[in-house]
Amino acid sequence: MLVVPCDVVVIGGGIVGTSCAWRLAERGHRVVLVDPDPGGGSSRAAAGMLAPVSELHHGEEDLLALCLLAASGFAEHARRVSAAGDAPTGYRGCGTLVVALDAGDRARLADVRRAQERLGLDVQALTGRECRRLEPLLDPAVSGGTLARGDHQVDPRRLLRALRAAAGRCGVDFVPARGEVLVEGGRAAGVRFADGSAVRADLVVLATGARAQQHAPVRPVKGQVARLRMPEGGHVLQRTVRAVVRDRDVYLVPREDGELVVGATTEDRGFDETVTAGAVHDLLRDAQAVVPGVAELELVEVLARSRPGSPDNLPLIGFGEVPGLLLAVGHHRNGVLLSGVTADAVAALAAGEDVPPEVAACDPVRFGSRSAAREEVLVP
Ligand code: GLY
Repeated sequence: MLVVPCDVVVIGGGIVGTSCAWRLAERGHRVVLVDPDPGGGSSRAAAGMLAPVSELHHGEEDLLALCLLAASGFAEHARRVSAAGDAPTGYRGCGTLVVALDAGDRARLADVRRAQERLGLDVQALTGRECRRLEPLLDPAVSGGTLARGDHQVDPRRLLRALRAAAGRCGVDFVPARGEVLVEGGRAAGVRFADGSAVRADLVVLATGARAQQHAPVRPVKGQVARLRMPEGGHVLQRTVRAVVRDRDVYLVPREDGELVVGATTEDRGFDETVTAGAVHDLLRDAQAVVPGVAELELVEVLARSRPGSPDNLPLIGFGEVPGLLLAVGHHRNGVLLSGVTADAVAALAAGEDVPPEVAACDPVRFGSRSAAREEVLVP
């Protein structure tokens, strides 16, 4: 494998890895980005919801703080990526409407809303009629909802294209090959390719999501999604709609270009990219229960990918047990939202700088020890 000399190797060319490569290159590092199928993993299935408020889960305050930090800077991050890559990201500051169908679903939403209010989050309770005023094509059975004005969206596929362009303009060298961390004398020394060749670097950034299991406690969490197409002038929704439908969750993410993403299952099945008839049926049935017009839309794509889950649902961002190896993995349901703060943190850590407390909570040291030798490998 012929690879230009570098001082940092990033393994994993999804949205997180490419963001890291771009930021590191912006700071003057010679960066190589290794991935046999860039963007072909969880980034490909991501819906792009930037939704710390409507994705709140009980007991995940550290994750909430991190996601709020990321959300507060995302519009500026998207603007910078777009300018640097001279390409759109599909960022939309459209807000999110969460709706409930039956009384049980309404009670669940109200319960979550009380928790959101206790945490000081920006949420507004709505009646079914108020929901339909915002989104006229909602089913009459929608009986109530919550408006999360600050939960927006971006188009992950456009974002990745813009990031790759931005990274390329900063000199990142893309290597379309499968690579493993090269460990020599107990420390990360670069990347080893399938043909046995290797390239050396002072620092290795691992951003392979759920496939980082050899170096981080991550696991695959399968998600199946469907992509539909809304006709021009016939968009069925204006903003992201999440719904509780007889105690099941579904989301519908409408893009300006007419794409409508419907997702997603959450399945602990190991690595499995099989799309199942039952899962697609359930997603489309629940989406139709919320927006009947979904039945008329063209079904463009169905796919399944693995979210990178971690034991506490917080990502692992920082140095782990192997000196010279910086982890940027385990982003679970929030990889797109957290890509900018992760990249900033990786660039800061590579330079020996501090990271914000919200990111410091993601230090992999919480799952094990860290080598004292780590300081030696920081890139100047
Ligand atoms: N954040 C949406 C999902 O993981 O399905």
